[in-house]
Amino acid sequence: MKLADNKATLSFSNGSPSVEMPVYQGSIGPDVIDIRKLYAQTGMFTYDPGFLSTASCQSAITYIDGDKGELLYRGYPIEQLAVNCDFLETCHLLLYGNLPNETQKKDFTSRVTNHTMVNEQMQFFLRGFRRDAHPMAVLTGLVGALSAFYHDSTDINNPQHREVAAIRLIAKMPTLVAMAYKYGKGEPYMYPRNDLSYAGNFLRMMFGTPCEDYVVNPVLERALDRIFILHADHEQNASTSTVRLCGSSGTNPFAAIAAGVACLWGPAHGGANEACLNMLEDIQRQGGVSKVGEFMEKVKDKNSGVKLMGFGHRVYKNYDPRAKLMQETCNEVLKELGLENDPLFKLAKELEKIALEDDYFVSRKLYPNVDFYSGIVQRAMGIPVNLFTGIFALARTVGWIAQLNEMISDPEYKIGRPRQLFTGSERAGKRAAAIQTLIVDGPRPPTHESPPHPGGLFLWCAGSASRPRIVVTPVTVQRVLP
Ligand code: ACO
Repeated sequence: MKLADNKATLSFSNGSPSVEMPVYQGSIGPDVIDIRKLYAQTGMFTYDPGFLSTASCQSAITYIDGDKGELLYRGYPIEQLAVNCDFLETCHLLLYGNLPNETQKKDFTSRVTNHTMVNEQMQFFLRGFRRDAHPMAVLTGLVGALSAFYHDSTDINNPQHREVAAIRLIAKMPTLVAMAYKYGKGEPYMYPRNDLSYAGNFLRMMFGTPCEDYVVNPVLERALDRIFILHADHEQNASTSTVRLCGSSGTNPFAAIAAGVACLWGPAHGGANEACLNMLEDIQRQGGVSKVGEFMEKVKDKNSGVKLMGFGHRVYKNYDPRAKLMQETCNEVLKELGLENDPLFKLAKELEKIALEDDYFVSRKLYPNVDFYSGIVQRAMGIPVNLFTGIFALARTVGWIAQLNEMISDPEYKIGRPRQLFTGSERAGKRAAAIQTLIVDGPRPPTHESPPHPGGLFLWCAGSASRPRIVVTPVTVQRVLP
C-alpha cells in the first residue's frame, strides 16, 4: 500500500490526546484512513454498520466509479470487455490479472472444459431435495457439497489447491445450475459437451434433451455470454465480502463460495432480478403501462414498503454501465425471438423513463442497475424466473474465487472479526444466570426428566407423541420433578 503525504488527526472534545493515523492512497478512488491501531491507542472502535465508509481490504481486481458510472475489471472498461471478449477470457483476466494470449486462452479453455462434469454421486445428493425446491436453496447445498467430493482442492492455504478449486468451480457451476433446473422439471440431466462454448454448453445442458440434437442459437449464446461477463465481478459487494469473511477463517474454497451463493440470494442483492421480473409481471397483471403512475406513487410512499426493484445501488449514483449493455442485449434477444413487442419490455422502459424524470429518483440519484433488464432477457430465452439468481451465481463465481484467492495471498490478511457497540444489559442478573429450561409441553403433564447436559439445559419430555407442542422459553427452574 502506498502512504499518502498527509495524515489524519482525530481529536476529542473531552481533552483526550488527539491521535494521528496514516492515510493510504489507492491507484484511483478515495484514499483510506488506516484505523487499525485506533483501539490500541484510544480504547474506541469505529461504528459503520453496512460498511458505508469502510474499506474492508485492499484489492487490485475490480474498480467502480459510482459517480461516473464506470466499471473496470483489472483496468479494462466493462464496455470493452462486453464487446471484444468472451466470458472465459474475462475469467482469465479476473483470476490472473491479464487477458490471455492465444496459447493461454487455449490452455485455460481446455482446463475449464475438462472439469465440467461433476462426480456422478452428485445426482444422488441432488435427489434429497424436493422437486419444487428453490434453485438457490439447491445450489447453496450443491456448491458446499463439492468439498465432500474433491478432497484434493480443499486446502485454502495451498496455492495448488486454490488453483484447482478455481477451475473446478468455474467449470462445474453451469453443470450444477443446469442440473438444478432439470431436476425441478423432472427431465434427464444433460452431460456437458466439450465441443461447445461455455455459454453454448450451458444452453444445451438447460434446454437440450437426449431425444434430439440441440442446435445452439448464436444470438442467445452471445447474449448469455454477455450476461456472464457483466455479472463476473463487482468489487466488495455483499456476497463477495461474505466469501472473503467466510474464507478468512481458513475454511475450504467450496464452503466459502457456498456462503456467497447464500448471500447473493437476497432480493436486495442478486435476488433483485427475480424480484424485478415478479414486480413487472405484477404491474402487467394489474393493467400494465396504464398502472405505472399508480405504482410509482406507492414506491415513493415510504410507508408502503414497495421498492422499484432493479433500481438504486449502494455505489452507483449514476447509470449502472451494465444496465446500458443489458438493455442493448435485451433489444437483440427480443428481435431474434420475434418478441419486439414484449409487454414487459415496454413496461420496463416506461418505468425507467418516468423514474429518470421523477424528482424522488433524481434527487436520490437512483438509476437502473444491471438487474432491471437482465430478467427480461433471461425470461425471453426460456429461463424460469426462479433460476435468474442461479445464473448470476454461476457468473459471479469467478469474481468470488478471484477475490478469495487475492485475500489469501495478501500478507496483511487476518480472520475477519468486526467489533460492536454493545447496547444490552450491563450485567446478567440472578434470573438470567440461573439454569434455563427447555419445556416440551404436551397435553399431559411432564412425566420424564432427562439429565441436565453440561450447558445446564434441562429437557422435559412429555405429551402426546402424535402432536407434541414445543415451547422454548428462558425460565428459571421452579420445581424439580420427582
Ligand atoms: N425504490 C425506491 N426507493 C429507493 C430504491 C428503490 N429501488 N432504492 C433506494 N431507494 C431510496 C431509499 O429508500 C432511500 O431513501 P431515503 O434517503 O429517503 O431514506 C434512498 O433511496 C437511499 O437508498 P438506501 O436504501 O439508503 O441505499 P442503499 O445503498 O442502502 O441500498 C439497494 C441500495 C439495496 C440496492 C437499494 O437501492 C435497493 O433496495 N434497490 C432495489 C433492489 C435492487 O435492485 N437490488 C440490486 C442491487 S444490484 C445487485 O446487487 C446486482
